[in-house]
Amino acid sequence: MRAVMFSSYGPPEVLTPVELPVPVPTGDQVQVRVHATTVTSAECGMRRGEPRWGRIILGPLRPRAGVRVLGLEFAGEVTAAGPRVRRFRVGDRVFGFTGFAVGANAEYKCLSEKASLTTIPANVSYEQAAATVDGFTTAWHFLHGLAGIRAGQRVLVIGASGSIGTYAVQIAARAGATVHGVCGGRNVKLVESLGAERVFDYSREDFTRSGERYDAVFDTVTRSSFAACRPVLTPRGCYLPTTHLINNVLAIRTALGRGPRVRTGMSVRKHAALADLRTLLEQDALQVVIDRTYPLSEIVEAHRHVDSGHKSGNVVITV
Ligand SMILES: NC(=O)c1ccc[n+]([C@@H]2O[C@H](COP(=O)([O-])OP(=O)(O)OC[C@H]3O[C@@H](n4cnc5c(N)ncnc54)[C@H](OP(=O)(O)O)[C@@H]3O)[C@@H](O)[C@H]2O)c1
Repeated sequence: MRAVMFSSYGPPEVLTPVELPVPVPTGDQVQVRVHATTVTSAECGMRRGEPRWGRIILGPLRPRAGVRVLGLEFAGEVTAAGPRVRRFRVGDRVFGFTGFAVGANAEYKCLSEKASLTTIPANVSYEQAAATVDGFTTAWHFLHGLAGIRAGQRVLVIGASGSIGTYAVQIAARAGATVHGVCGGRNVKLVESLGAERVFDYSREDFTRSGERYDAVFDTVTRSSFAACRPVLTPRGCYLPTTHLINNVLAIRTALGRGPRVRTGMSVRKHAALADLRTLLEQDALQVVIDRTYPLSEIVEAHRHVDSGHKSGNVVITV
């Protein structure tokens, strides 16, 4: 089968097309013929070997064998099933998340039926489905799981035009919160259309001087900091950054105090969020923002675009 591999950390050019054996499903695994996958900011970081501490998991000097084919999100068709598979049948259209196993930048991927995997509603294309998984479920984990947002609360989403951000705005608005966003000028209209009442263009306005107060500031791109956001948080408000080790330390320290808190972590188990996502897609109640679509043969170009830090929503790869 065709796949794309990297065997050293570096720029997009380290990605190389390869031919690999088609994986055979065993036990409770399904074999998925991948029709669409994505390039996310997180896996561009994996390709660069950043942050450095991540190499403890990925491989200290070069990526270890199990992570050399990237691809976190996928949508495709079940083409074979192991003897213990109960949830899926050959022919099912499915979408999901590969997690630390990665490997969806390939024609076939085998994974356990217990993985973050579910069926695609009939009204949704493979490209749309693949573009939802990580952004939506991460936003869901932070807003529902960590912040417990409720109707009537006020939420600020920094990086509101990105993959996590575009879903965060919609999830918070749907929960009945008043949502404000921060993004660049060209994306202000987009973020408003997703449900944000006020959008700050970071090149012109400083949201920390707006006089607004928020119960949650979700920093999807970790471009701000707890110190900078503290003045705009309510007395028990929380700052939710998606990355940076220092924020894990701040999360422990602020949990013990009485003031605003930091809450962070990794969205790994995605089952509950995936079920909610499937329902919203089926009801046509979710806007999926796709910036660009590339064939697998042009994945280097797709990584260059994501590396810019200025994609809007999601970048899809058709296989
Ligand atoms: N903790 C977890 O479980 C978890 C899971 C997944 C991902 N992550 C991490 O989350 C991060 C975000 O991922 P993502 O895919 O959502 O990002 P993304 O789609 O790459 O974000 C790009 C967007 O950020 C906006 N942006 C850039 N600079 C900004 C600034 N200073 N202020 C506000 N917006 C700005 C850009 O808007 P303009 O083009 O207008 O500048 C662009 O639309 C990554 O670092 C990833 O590693 C964490």
